Amino acid sequence: MSVMIRSTGVAIPQRRMENAELAAMVDTTDEWIRSHTGIRCRHIAADGELTSDLAAAAATMALERAGISAREIDLLVLATATPDYLGFPSTACLVQRKIGADGCAALDVVAGCTGFIYALEVAAAMLEARGGRNALVIGAETLTRITDWKDRATCVLFGDGAGAAVLSRIEEGGRGVLKTILGAEGSGAGDLYLVQAPRERSFERSEPIVPRIAMNGQNVYNFAVKTISVLVGRLLHASVYKLEDFAWIVPHQANARIVQAAAKRLGAPEERFYLNLEEYANTSSASIPIALHEMTEKGLLKKGDLVMLIGFGSGLTYGAAAIRW
Ligand code: UT7
Repeated sequence: MSVMIRSTGVAIPQRRMENAELAAMVDTTDEWIRSHTGIRCRHIAADGELTSDLAAAAATMALERAGISAREIDLLVLATATPDYLGFPSTACLVQRKIGADGCAALDVVAGCTGFIYALEVAAAMLEARGGRNALVIGAETLTRITDWKDRATCVLFGDGAGAAVLSRIEEGGRGVLKTILGAEGSGAGDLYLVQAPRERSFERSEPIVPRIAMNGQNVYNFAVKTISVLVGRLLHASVYKLEDFAWIVPHQANARIVQAAAKRLGAPEERFYLNLEEYANTSSASIPIALHEMTEKGLLKKGDLVMLIGFGSGLTYGAAAIRW
């Protein structure tokens, strides 16, 4: 018994913001952003377009492609750092209602940019433990709502979007999700977090608290490069495969330089890593499913291909999965 990704779907907000537009807002340049990150563009959710809207649209597309109805879903696991509501209700429940997956179990996973891989493992383990058939695994974000547009060190990095996958249990062995590694270094929690406290504590304060991203870019960069190399090594060690056996490595799309540095460390060709952050920037938990969907659309993922997913992010969390497509 195994679980496989049966289909994928995406939702990308229409509004595109190129680097030049950002350069007119903060002290930055298209050249700096491209040379330091590889990003040229990001998509921005419209006013009133919520994380649950993007997630529901991506999920609907994935269901259509799988040829199953929402009522056949036993479980909905949604990874996000930007839920519609703080705390509750979960965004997963809102999506469940929007797509009509009545009655299925629904929960959110909070694991920063590693969210999709955490959600994949939670869904796979729960399908197995509870004897379910199909799950929806979604990564969805509206990060531009928590972006500090005055902070050039972070506002150039993030974008909005959602990716979804239908996960199904299969009888066939040796296919689907073969091995997953998850972990976290909570000691680095302060390197990437959401500031939610007022800047100044004052009894007189009347401004609302607006959450915004705070990041120690250098620390996260170093963590990411180290993590990719360590995860690849651990995944190979835990399986019978060699790096050359993998048709594709699909990393979390944070910074092209992170991937280049990790590829160099591993002695792996950069072309083996799939990158699309040029168009979408960093969409956190949505970046890996958006990449997977794009790859299937381009015909890059063929039945039998070995694919490695690698995530890293706030927490600090990390995760990797080996999948036989
Ligand atoms: O999903 C996980 C989330 N986060 C990440 O993966 C991010 C990991 N970190 C990174 O990708 C990189 O550290 C950044 C892209 C955030 C920054 O790149 P960097 O090469 O580490 O730049 P830096 O922070 O060392 O800054 C270099 C210079 C500084 O100026 P000085 O002090 O040398 O004069 C910055 O003030 O670049 C300046 N700078 C900028 N200049 C123009 C920082 N941001 C910008 C900007 N435009 N947007």
